Amino acid sequence: MNAATSQSELERAAVPLTPDAILRRLSGCAPCLRGRYAATLAEVSPRLAWAGPQRLAATSSVYADPLLRQEKLAEYVWTEYWGGVFIEDFLRDYRGEYAKLLTRHALDEVGHGNAFAQYAGRPAPSPAGAPEGLLARDAYAAYQQWANGDLVAFLSILHVLELRTAVILTHWFCLLETYPGPDRDAIHSLLARISRDEVFHLTYTLQALDALLVDDAASRTLTEAFMLSEADVPTILDAARRRREGAHA
Ligand SMILES: [Fe+2]
Ligand SMILES: [Fe+2]
Repeated sequence: MNAATSQSELERAAVPLTPDAILRRLSGCAPCLRGRYAATLAEVSPRLAWAGPQRLAATSSVYADPLLRQEKLAEYVWTEYWGGVFIEDFLRDYRGEYAKLLTRHALDEVGHGNAFAQYAGRPAPSPAGAPEGLLARDAYAAYQQWANGDLVAFLSILHVLELRTAVILTHWFCLLETYPGPDRDAIHSLLARISRDEVFHLTYTLQALDALLVDDAASRTLTEAFMLSEADVPTILDAARRRREGAHA
């Protein structure tokens, strides 16, 4: 599996990139832009705020305000940390072919949480949590319920969240290049280090989906994962309940 390629494409772009443009630039991803995955991405992209200019506007307004910018970077401590815990939780019952990659992925995300904490001068994240991390914790717990141990569902939501992260990273790199402030170098090196891992996460999850999207049910699961990537926690939990009921129908 060729997942560790084009590691600096996100930081080198320095322009905001759409999901499709990101995947085309990454040599490990581009060959997987085909079949059910490509059809799903084309169908959902116009419906996702994070794939369009709304998200660039949101990232820009956060970046433009020094206080909001620092708060956002401190919030990423928990997005990353709970993202790692999300994978560890799945691995408790999963021993299949992707276990090794997922184990490394979980370690990376906890490492990212630590890196953001170090940057923000905060304590390293731990299971005790913090108030600013509650939303991320609850969202990941809801995604876990939605996936419910199903590998396609789990890899779908994991991949989609990585793709969203990659899009947002290109916004940050673009803003840092165009409007550098006194903390430009520190933020850039933090995000550059993280983006190399994110390219790996994006690539291996896409390569896995390329192999796993073998029927319409799998495509529907991926579509739902895309749409749930910007849903609130009650909506995700509702989707989880409907998925369980559907499985038992
Ligand atoms: Fe990460
Ligand atoms: Fe990641």
